[in-house]
Amino acid sequence: MNVRVKRHIKAPPLKIQGIKTKLVPFIMKNINWDGNGRWLEPFLGSGVVLFNVAPQQALVADTNEHIITFYQAVQNQTITPFNLRAFLEQEGEYLKKQGESYYYSVRERFNATHNPFDFLFLNRSCFNGMMRFNSKGEFNVPFCRKPERFRPAYITKICNQVAWITRQMAGKDWQFMVQDWRETLALAEVDDFVYLDPPYNDRHADYYNRWQEGEADELAEAIKQLQCGFAYSTWKENKYRVNEHLLAHFADYPIVTRNHFYHVGPTESLRNAMEEALVIAPGYTAESYADSLEKQTAQQLTLAL
Ligand SMILES: C[S@@+](CC[C@H](N)C(=O)[O-])C[C@H]1O[C@@H](n2cnc3c(N)ncnc32)[C@H](O)[C@@H]1O
Repeated sequence: MNVRVKRHIKAPPLKIQGIKTKLVPFIMKNINWDGNGRWLEPFLGSGVVLFNVAPQQALVADTNEHIITFYQAVQNQTITPFNLRAFLEQEGEYLKKQGESYYYSVRERFNATHNPFDFLFLNRSCFNGMMRFNSKGEFNVPFCRKPERFRPAYITKICNQVAWITRQMAGKDWQFMVQDWRETLALAEVDDFVYLDPPYNDRHADYYNRWQEGEADELAEAIKQLQCGFAYSTWKENKYRVNEHLLAHFADYPIVTRNHFYHVGPTESLRNAMEEALVIAPGYTAESYADSLEKQTAQQLTLAL
């Protein structure tokens, strides 16, 4: 199986800052993997890349147990599009009647019980679809201030997203695990393919995203030791600076780049332009790589830096 570009990229039910939905075609079209082993994703986040690639076998992980618990609940059918609809209709009605205070009571309930239904409710009604936790590990994003958030069309959209990921998982051998990236990489075998999308250097630091000084360097060294294929998402440059880590570690590797806007707030002025980079293991670039306009040679990168 080659990882082919699918025509319709779909979004998963959970949202997270830095979500790669718009970059999935760019990632998929540049990777060439035979699909014989497992798809490993040590920094799963929303899971948008996994769900669109839809490999037969996968081992995916994140240190954020709420994300993993949610997807395990969909996998073992504790959460279905049907019971989720009933839940969102009821909770949405309470939110409409009681407003903001109801959002905060669900947030308190979630922080006490860690219920995955509540997690989805908060993720889809909090400010700007953020996922952020305080130093005690409590979800702390404020309300989006729209008491009528869960209108019928919005509930249908979310339930369709759950139905879609349920179909993507059906008949597949996928393992969702709560663990640090080091543990996931230690499980990699020669036929596997690893896709890595770590936090970008403290950009969204919170309880689950403490990207310590030196951690990107440690990760880069570990990636280079892998005996299997990999693709590593990172950034090349933004308006203010260039990512020196990229050239320091990966000057001899195939790298493709692409401009992307990250939305960090509701207004245009808060959009951050970023040049994204995908480092690919030699031998795992797509056939089109040789002619690709997105390709950067190490020399071009050096000039840019
Ligand atoms: C940039 S996000 C991944 C986004 C994902 N590719 C997507 O499109 O939704 C990084 C993820 O890494 C997780 N994470 C942070 N530190 C980690 C660590 N030490 N080990 C494993 N996962 C970690 C965070 O919880 C977060 O979900």
